[in-house]
Amino acid sequence: MQQTVWLLTVVVVAIIALIFLFVALNSTTRAEYPAVQARAYRFRSVVFWGLILAGIVIAAVTLRELPYTSAQAAPAAQVVNAKGYQWYWELDHDTVKAGQPVEFHVTSGDVNHGFGIYDADTRLVAQVQAMPGYVNRLRHTFDRPGTYRIMCLEYCGLVHHGMIFELQVVAPQNAEVEP
Ligand code: CUA
Repeated sequence: MQQTVWLLTVVVVAIIALIFLFVALNSTTRAEYPAVQARAYRFRSVVFWGLILAGIVIAAVTLRELPYTSAQAAPAAQVVNAKGYQWYWELDHDTVKAGQPVEFHVTSGDVNHGFGIYDADTRLVAQVQAMPGYVNRLRHTFDRPGTYRIMCLEYCGLVHHGMIFELQVVAPQNAEVEP
C-alpha cells in the first residue's frame, strides 16, 4: 500500500512539474484571447462533467457498503483502558487476543501524549492522541500474535523517549479468560 501511494505521489508530482515546465516555456508566446478562452471553457466543461460522472460512480460503488456495521453487530471488543503520564503508560491489561477487535480507551493524566502501537519490526500499526480530559477510542484488530510496544508519539518532555509499554498479543487459544 505504501509503495503504491509513494509511486502515485511521484507520478502526480512529475505531472505537475511538467505542467509548470509547459507553462514556463510557453509564457512568451502571444495568442488572441477569444480563441484561448473558448478552448479553456470547453476544457472546463469536460472537467466539470467528468468530475460529476466520477462522483456518481464513486458514490454508487461506496454507498453499497451501507449500512456500516454497528458496534453492536461487530464482534465484542476487548476493552483496554490506557493512560499516559510523564513518563510512562498505565494500561489495565498487558495481554490481548489476536483476531478479535481491541478497543483502547486512551487518555492522559497530565499533558498531551501520542499513543502509538508498534509491532515487533517497529512498524506503526495504530495510533491515537492521549489527551487530558478526553477519552479517545482506538479500535484495532491484531492479526499477528507477538510483542507489541506502545511508544509516545508526541514530544512531552525530558523522558518522552522512555514511555514504552510492552503489549502481548496472544493467539486466541492460549489467551487468558477476560475478567
Ligand atoms: Cu509522552 Cu512523549
